[in-house]
Amino acid sequence: MDRSQIASESREGLLRSYSKERGESIPLRKSLEDAYRSSNDSDLDATDYLDIDPPKNQSKVSAYAPQQRLAAIRRTFARRSKCLIIVLLVCIAFWSVLAAGGFFLYKKTPLEGQSPPWYPSPAGGTVPQWSESYKKAAELVKAMSLPEKVNITTGTGWQMGLAVGNSGPAIHVGFPGLSYQDGPLGLRFADNATAFPAGITVGATWDKELMYERGKAHGNEARLKGVNVLLGPCVGPLGRMPAGGRNWEGFGSDPYLQGVAAAETIKGIQEEGVIATIKHFVGNEQEHFRQSWEWGLPNAMSSNIDDRTLHEMYGWPFGDSVKAGVGSVMCSYQMVNNSYSCGNSKLLNGYLKDELGFQGFVQSDWLAQRSGVASGLAGLDVSMPGDGLTWAAGKSLWGPELTKAVLNGSLPVSRLNDMVTRVVAAWYQMGQDDKSKFGGEGINFSSWTNDEMGFINAGSPDDKEKTLVNKFVDVQGTGDDAHSIIARKVATEGTVLVKNEGDILPLSVDGWPADQPHNLIFRIGIFGEDAAEGKGPNACDDRACNQGTLASGWGSGAVEFPYLVNPMAALKEAFNKDRVYVTEFPTNSPPMKQAPAVLNDQDVCIVFVNSDSGEGYKSWEGINGDRNDLNLQKDGDLLVKQVADGCGAGNGNTVVVVHSVGPVILDKWINHPGVKAVIMANLPGQESGNAIRDILLGTVNPSGKLPYTLGRSLDDYGPGAQVLYYANGVVPQQNFSEGLYIDYRHFDKFGIDPTFEFGFGLSYTTFEYSNINVAALLPKSPLPAPERLALHLHNWTTPSPTQVQRCFLVDSASSRSYDEVQPRSEAGGDEGGNSDLWNIYASVSVDIKNTGKVAGKEVAQLYINYADVEGDALNVDYPVKVLRGFEKVFLEVDETKAVQFNLTRRDLSYWCVKKQNWVIPDQGRITIRVGASSRDLKLTGWY
Ligand code: BGC
Repeated sequence: MDRSQIASESREGLLRSYSKERGESIPLRKSLEDAYRSSNDSDLDATDYLDIDPPKNQSKVSAYAPQQRLAAIRRTFARRSKCLIIVLLVCIAFWSVLAAGGFFLYKKTPLEGQSPPWYPSPAGGTVPQWSESYKKAAELVKAMSLPEKVNITTGTGWQMGLAVGNSGPAIHVGFPGLSYQDGPLGLRFADNATAFPAGITVGATWDKELMYERGKAHGNEARLKGVNVLLGPCVGPLGRMPAGGRNWEGFGSDPYLQGVAAAETIKGIQEEGVIATIKHFVGNEQEHFRQSWEWGLPNAMSSNIDDRTLHEMYGWPFGDSVKAGVGSVMCSYQMVNNSYSCGNSKLLNGYLKDELGFQGFVQSDWLAQRSGVASGLAGLDVSMPGDGLTWAAGKSLWGPELTKAVLNGSLPVSRLNDMVTRVVAAWYQMGQDDKSKFGGEGINFSSWTNDEMGFINAGSPDDKEKTLVNKFVDVQGTGDDAHSIIARKVATEGTVLVKNEGDILPLSVDGWPADQPHNLIFRIGIFGEDAAEGKGPNACDDRACNQGTLASGWGSGAVEFPYLVNPMAALKEAFNKDRVYVTEFPTNSPPMKQAPAVLNDQDVCIVFVNSDSGEGYKSWEGINGDRNDLNLQKDGDLLVKQVADGCGAGNGNTVVVVHSVGPVILDKWINHPGVKAVIMANLPGQESGNAIRDILLGTVNPSGKLPYTLGRSLDDYGPGAQVLYYANGVVPQQNFSEGLYIDYRHFDKFGIDPTFEFGFGLSYTTFEYSNINVAALLPKSPLPAPERLALHLHNWTTPSPTQVQRCFLVDSASSRSYDEVQPRSEAGGDEGGNSDLWNIYASVSVDIKNTGKVAGKEVAQLYINYADVEGDALNVDYPVKVLRGFEKVFLEVDETKAVQFNLTRRDLSYWCVKKQNWVIPDQGRITIRVGASSRDLKLTGWY
């Protein structure tokens, strides 16, 4: 197999073929070996076929007599020709359909480059927070040779180095090669590291401190494993489509929630000295067609997003991330407005680097770079993993090509210098030059083998020498600093109780509730495969199968579990064995049929069900990344119904626990009289069992709130929420025409009743809200105070029109627009945009009292709308409510605390397309509502 053939294979397939070329077996990740072996077994060609299929009634020897041999061949061919005819017919039918459709599709070919050009690329080093780092970086870069600079901008290639992404060093100036590793649930492919709860669970905690602490523990592990650049957190997908395959990597279907969670995570990671990467910029909302060739089409899809929607929705959390000082941004696979994200000058130069004032470096998602010089000019700084257009083809779009481009003047040297300076400045900014923190040993584990010894460049047939690659450094922390503590806290607080009829929960360790003393043994049945260990947490590559208890989605965002506490094991341990008898039924086979007696015998039945999804390069049972619906998987609905029907012969109480990558439809059984309690446990990571035990037994009072809406059907989320499963053009088009109206905003706009609304979650206690007070700290004015710092525009010579044509493949730069220096954004000026956008204009306080019988935490949420604005702003289309604040507060029984929210200028503004700026409606009043969920708003005030 030559390297170009390999391109369409899975990444794991690549390693396999190189080991074949090398004529030896190189260590595979254990789970891959079986797949390799079985694929070798079926490697038959035509002669093999003759050998294994002698004519009937003849011995194998006589079958090779000349005339019989001829007959055998004829027969073979007769069989083959039938086969061939069928294949041909299928092909003809296929091509006819395609030709007919093709004509139609070609008609629909979008015009290239609907994204306006924005050149030249703004250089970094424009804000005081980064000035020291830029000074040092400039010194270092000045001393680098051209190949050294190029080394830093270009990954070495897939599996060329121990991390998933590796860049080369600048040896003469002592700048090391950097390792880039996934994120965001933990350290991918690492041993002795923590499998934290996924982003969606973190979002469900609504707890800023936990968000920060999880980020810090994650960053700490990355640093101790020698990772320079962590490929997380993730805020794109935002959650436009509830069935989107990777929503679980992010924090929930609202830009404000995502933004806060991302900023806290980034602070945590970067305080540890590791460069965080916010991804995927931007509009990577579904897996289907996200990438060229992965879905059989030469081009990726285009997410078509209008200016206001970009600012208020998909770009919003990136703004928070830049404000938090993030060191890297990963541009996404697909196109935005028909220009690839990683070569989209409007996005990278205009929005990210000019308006948002991003100071770090833009790296491509793996193979998301689709052009050479053009993407450099459009603002891409680092090409990852450096392979070029196809996996491991060895034809980088940069590397030597970038050197040539600089030498022949296609890419100004100032742009190259800026690319490199941005990387080196981020390295200084995180303190990675400090040897006491970053020992200089580099990465101490291999992504490509679990053995101690392995190849540094596993992807190269020329690397024939094994060295020590896995040092098995345990980075999980110990004692009070064990990261399992924070993992468990997040999992517990990210668990959402949505139904608790008759206060059936919490259960007592002694079984019978204190007010119903009983001599009988209390019987608890635990049902469902999702409660149990299954084949172990790491049974499938990158966790791409749904078996055993679900604690993570699949793909690059998943990790090797060091352990996974399953709910069954944790619950069995939890109850008083003298008083409570626990029965296990760890399968999804209908218990009514299999074990009716078991079911009828229970006082309480706890049933575990789930729904899984992941990244598009893997699939499981017809789920190609994105889910095909929002139903429970593995007949979960039937399991719940049967358990609820039969539990305690109809008198039992059923508790349903759902592990899920996102929203699921509960309506098939939510009103079943036997279903007394329902818990959305999201994706809890390694501490799953302990977390659910804490909640079920009331050791911890539930305080999670839904980070998404639970609708009654997928259709309820609106047309914009539908994944595009079938191509609607040669470049599939997803028009984000619903604009600001996703998730709860859509439900509000169309008056649709959800099963449970965004922000909803119950507690074992009750809270009372009172005394809203809005203080105007700064007077209203429509626009932020003008602010522009000195801009370091590149001083480059304009290339000839032919060069320009060569450079701009998709991004629609005509030579005219290429010459034109774009006006600087008035909304820019500092990191995260104009610094006035971050000033606090209003502060809101409310009193919250714990009126129940146990201590607990409440998440108070603040939403705004423009219902009472006047003047021009009356024409502004604004959602019924938009989240603009949340605070989690702990309250003892009867305790009251004042909770304060700060509203920035950005929070109160809308993005005005005409003014190209954030605008506060200054006539009339902005309505502020505070409450316990998006539909339980108890207090109203005005600014
Ligand atoms: C994913 C990224 C990931 C990268 C490296 C890509 O397929 O989209 O999120 O960081 O692979 O593993």
